[in-house]
Amino acid sequence: MPDPIPMPTRFGSSGQPVTRRDGVAKVTGAATFAADNHPNGLLHAVYVPATIARGRVVSMDVAAARAHPGVVEVYTPDNSLKLAGDPDAKPFMFAFRMHVLQTDRIAYANQPIALVVAETIEAANEGARLLAPVYEAETPRVTLDDAEGYKPEAAGFGAAETVHGDVEAGHAAAAKSVDLTYETPSQYHNAMETHAVVAEWDGDRLTLDLPNQAIVMSKAAYGYYFGIPPQNVLIRSPYLGGGFGSKAMSHAPVMLAIAAARAIGRPVKLMLRRDQMFGPVGHRGATRQHIRIGIDGDARMTVLDHHSLSATSTFDDFIEPAANASQGLYDAGALRSSHTGVRLDVGTPGPMRAPGEASGSAVLECAMDEMAEAAGMDPLEFRLKNYAETEPGTGKPYSSKALRECYAQGAEHFGWAGRPLEAGTMRDEAGMLVGWGMGTALFHAPMFAAEARATLRPDGTGLVETGAADMGQGAWTALAQIAADALGLPLDKVEFRAGTSDLPDGGVAGGSGHTATAGGALHSAGMDAIARLAEIATADPASPLHGAGNATIVARDGRLVVEGDEERGEDFATIIARAGGEAVVGTGGASRPPEAGAAHAMYAHGAVFAEVKVDPELYQMRVTRLVGAFAAGRIINPKLAESQLYGGMIWGLSFALHEEARHDRRTGRIVNGDLAGYHVPVNADVTGFDVITVHEDDPYVNALGIKGVGEIGITGTVGAIANAIRHATGTRVRRFPIRIEDLLAGG
Ligand code: MOS
Repeated sequence: MPDPIPMPTRFGSSGQPVTRRDGVAKVTGAATFAADNHPNGLLHAVYVPATIARGRVVSMDVAAARAHPGVVEVYTPDNSLKLAGDPDAKPFMFAFRMHVLQTDRIAYANQPIALVVAETIEAANEGARLLAPVYEAETPRVTLDDAEGYKPEAAGFGAAETVHGDVEAGHAAAAKSVDLTYETPSQYHNAMETHAVVAEWDGDRLTLDLPNQAIVMSKAAYGYYFGIPPQNVLIRSPYLGGGFGSKAMSHAPVMLAIAAARAIGRPVKLMLRRDQMFGPVGHRGATRQHIRIGIDGDARMTVLDHHSLSATSTFDDFIEPAANASQGLYDAGALRSSHTGVRLDVGTPGPMRAPGEASGSAVLECAMDEMAEAAGMDPLEFRLKNYAETEPGTGKPYSSKALRECYAQGAEHFGWAGRPLEAGTMRDEAGMLVGWGMGTALFHAPMFAAEARATLRPDGTGLVETGAADMGQGAWTALAQIAADALGLPLDKVEFRAGTSDLPDGGVAGGSGHTATAGGALHSAGMDAIARLAEIATADPASPLHGAGNATIVARDGRLVVEGDEERGEDFATIIARAGGEAVVGTGGASRPPEAGAAHAMYAHGAVFAEVKVDPELYQMRVTRLVGAFAAGRIINPKLAESQLYGGMIWGLSFALHEEARHDRRTGRIVNGDLAGYHVPVNADVTGFDVITVHEDDPYVNALGIKGVGEIGITGTVGAIANAIRHATGTRVRRFPIRIEDLLAGG
């Protein structure tokens, strides 16, 4: 095992529940989102969505649209906007094939079939209406039974199949087993801010106001697609109204608006309508998961065999990596995760908060519950029995794993002890059926690569810069806290610049890795600035630090001092002034050395406990209590971290009981493709939630000991709620979301 990573010696601002620094700007409307920008000469674009899912556009009344007052241009496959880069190349990790009107073929409902650009949004909308497309429709394939499966090359960003141990022997050795099929629906990211862009060209320089989770990487993507050097692209993304994975990549409607701005020679704005979010900008693909668990006579797992049939589009390949959620958690004798793809007439799915783990953990945790029940065991006891001390399959040690503590603290807080094994036996005083269920939460603790710059200014304050993205999770605050500690300055003496692509690469706000990655870069840049300042001070005969060893000097509240002798020191401004008044600049980066990843398994863990109440006649379901206990390494900002975990748990509830995009099988359109018909929880649904953050020191995961909290809250929660419903009613529903009619029908 490699040596632990040396940790910074002092955390001051980090660990404090600082209120988000962007909060006032957001609630007062002062924060400007992409579509709030109105450059001179701005034109408005709307894209025309296909109203069928499969077939072709026969005709559109382009003349009528063009003739409408205010309409400037109408783009269709007949005069399509060509990209300089290959639209099929997928040159970046987060790339979709770019369908920008190359063809009159329709591959999914809401596919862009035209773009109308006008002087006003009203004229653009009216022009779009006048196009009145005529279609030749074919029977759409929109359910998992509508097409043959195929073997994908990858699932999500991981392997399509992973096998550890002898799976067949594991099945054969089982004294008891469960063999279950579960279904999860397609779900659509519904960030409060829909996708939007304001695109402005100046020769071959492009400026984009664009909500984006991967700002610097996207600069390269737009440079590629438009045939200009990446440094000619400036992306401004100071605020995002949510992202959830969808805003990590480029999508066709935005690409069309940028291309139109170039062709017309004026800035163009496009903002998707809510209903247009259902198709061209990614979603969580539907799955049908087949999961088999076997146990020996002592209730030890002999096999965990998880397969997912995952839907994708006809023209691209993103496969929801649901079965991979079964790697890494339980100590099964043999493990297999595998995937089959099904090509449907739907938009290409993509990463959506906890991609893979959300759908996969939902099914795994239900299956574990079913197995525990078959074994006659308490579900928590069964999980503890199969607790993995090292990563299953690989045998790697965990960099840290406080899951036992999560189970213990969560169970204690919830009052799990004394739960009757038998389902349908608890009622409250009002006669409601009461059920308790639990699930384990798991998410990778990844790190990507990022860079940062830290400047100590002559006035003694700090400036830190990195192209990080705050999509609402609190990066503006937590990252600034990390930087303040590295610089030895109070938080209010540190200016933090992020959210534009002309800064050092802040990496991707995704994968629950942004705080670790961008935070790591800020920390190392800050330490570098301090080391440079220390060099200046120790070399200066006029400084009390003259002659002190550089390594013994630390930054404390705006001063450099000798560690252990804090009287011997000098403030930053004085050192800088004597040295000529030039700001001192440090740079740094962060990424995980491959050997660290090779030596350890790195995950955040948690345990979620749910109480539901179900009306015994109407089968209305309420989650009355939800307790999540999570261990995710060092928590930089407890207030924001808890908020992230709440948000994840709310999404878990949404997955369990609310969310589903339903297709009309005749047209292939999503019949509930708006926020009236697409159900998500409201405040009244989310009372009685408690989050516990369990202390966890991780000396291996990265220099700051940070895991991530953005996605793990969904995992565990879905299963916990589904298991509680089973416990309340005696009915097991194997299709999400769980509906009243499923309970009425007895599962
Ligand atoms: Mo995400 S799905 O890592 O933004």
